[in-house]
Amino acid sequence: MKIALIHGPNFTYLHKREPVLYGAVSLPEIEQYVYATAKRCGISLECHSSHSNIEGKIIDYLEEAYKEKFHGVILNAGAYTHTSLAIADCLAWLPLPVVEVHLSQVFARESIRHTSTISAKCIATIIGCGIMGYGFALEVLAKHCGTIYEG
Ligand code: DQA
Repeated sequence: MKIALIHGPNFTYLHKREPVLYGAVSLPEIEQYVYATAKRCGISLECHSSHSNIEGKIIDYLEEAYKEKFHGVILNAGAYTHTSLAIADCLAWLPLPVVEVHLSQVFARESIRHTSTISAKCIATIIGCGIMGYGFALEVLAKHCGTIYEG
């Protein structure tokens, strides 16, 4: 199973960023966690990780996942989740299953974080589970892709 793990802005220094909210994990640790979940679930995985502080780059990564015939996407678009019509427009046509993930419990935060432009275009949204959310997202994607994983 080939997936894209895409992060939006302010994840480069995730391990240093507001640890009470985000758990002091790093992006490489998140990727390792996704691989560990795959191993535990018997999913043969190829995970392509990318992140950008630039909105259009996230769209480039999504288009690339389509072009390269990936099976699905795990997307944490960061603050663009709450503002980006451009990413929502991309997800509206992209014929790939996308799982939206947020490390923090956004509904316990400022009201601007209670809305997502992208949730309605995703097959699932996983919020407030910390790094575990990425493992759940992989399982949801694998299940969605049918034959690959019967868990
Ligand atoms: C986040 C939540 C967003 O509101 C915030 O802008 C982020 C991180 C999360 O993972 O909890 O950058 O997506």
